[in-house]
Amino acid sequence: MQKPPFNCKEWKTELPEMAEITKVIQEAKDIKSFFFRFDKEVRPGQFVMIWIPCVDEKPYAVSYQKGKEMAITSHMIGPFTKALDRLRKGDKIGVRGPYGKGFTPKKNACVIGGGVGMASVSTLIDALGNPTILMGAKDKAHVLYKKRYPKAMIATDDGSEGFHGFVTDQFKEQLKKKKFSMVYTCGPEIMMKKIVEICNEKGIDCEASVERYMKCGYGICGNCVIDDQLVCVDGPVFNREKLNKLNDFGRFAHLKNGKKVALAEYYGGRA
Ligand SMILES: Cc1cc2nc3c(=O)[nH]c(=O)nc-3n(C[C@H](O)[C@H](O)[C@H](O)COP(=O)(O)OP(=O)(O)OC[C@H]3O[C@@H](n4cnc5c(N)ncnc54)[C@H](O)[C@@H]3O)c2cc1C
Ligand code: FES
Repeated sequence: MQKPPFNCKEWKTELPEMAEITKVIQEAKDIKSFFFRFDKEVRPGQFVMIWIPCVDEKPYAVSYQKGKEMAITSHMIGPFTKALDRLRKGDKIGVRGPYGKGFTPKKNACVIGGGVGMASVSTLIDALGNPTILMGAKDKAHVLYKKRYPKAMIATDDGSEGFHGFVTDQFKEQLKKKKFSMVYTCGPEIMMKKIVEICNEKGIDCEASVERYMKCGYGICGNCVIDDQLVCVDGPVFNREKLNKLNDFGRFAHLKNGKKVALAEYYGGRA
């Protein structure tokens, strides 16, 4: 057989690589992690595009990474995530990336995750070693990674586990007892906006991982715009200084068709 005139391994493409699912873990109610082999180096906070043939392609934070194996953690909320939920060990998905700018790991940190936002900060927690971890969820059934992070402090909206209230209030309680040099967060944007405001008041450095509707994932389509930034290449992680300058942060986002709407409409009431 004739050899192609180039070395496929050296050729940089943005086409998905097919990967076999090696393990599926039920992490919490409607939330599963899917492990697969993908031999690329990923920095904490970066994301990959996951393709399910005949369905769609969507962005996911890399939530576990060990050697050549990694995982994503998906909350089942719509058509794509329902299709993902049906996949089992041995099924194949397309993976491309990693994309975006990740977190800058620093010592004496507090990591705050809300809901499935914990997935974006989990490899950061693993890299930091022993940061203070605050995990917020709507109730006990939706608390993620309890076994993985046994020292994490939990807050639930309904008080069914841990601190009764929002993780932002739990953060304020922690600030009465501890001093942090750095705060990292990912979760509902309203929660992240409050955390940035608290960090502004206290003068603490902060980084937040922001979500916007993504199509290409690498700066071509422009759909993930927030002010003058493209979340897929300039983010998804932004620092406090940048977040303070972003007028749309905590207020507006663009739908799949590009229309700019209030955040509550973008998240369909889940803002
Ligand atoms: C950088 C990044 C990292 C993400 N990491 C995770 C993760 O670790 N775990 C997780 O559960 N979810 C993550 N998401 C969100 C995930 O992509 C959506 O939950 C998923 O696409 C929903 O698709 P659906 O068809 O099930 O739901 P739909 O009903 O189509 O959408 C539900 C909501 O999901 C979001 N969404 C849908 N499509 C996209 C898209 N193409 N790009 C961005 N957001 C979209 C919107 O907020 C939308 O309102 C991430 C998003 C981004 C931008
Ligand atoms: S998703 Fe296309 S430019 Fe960001």
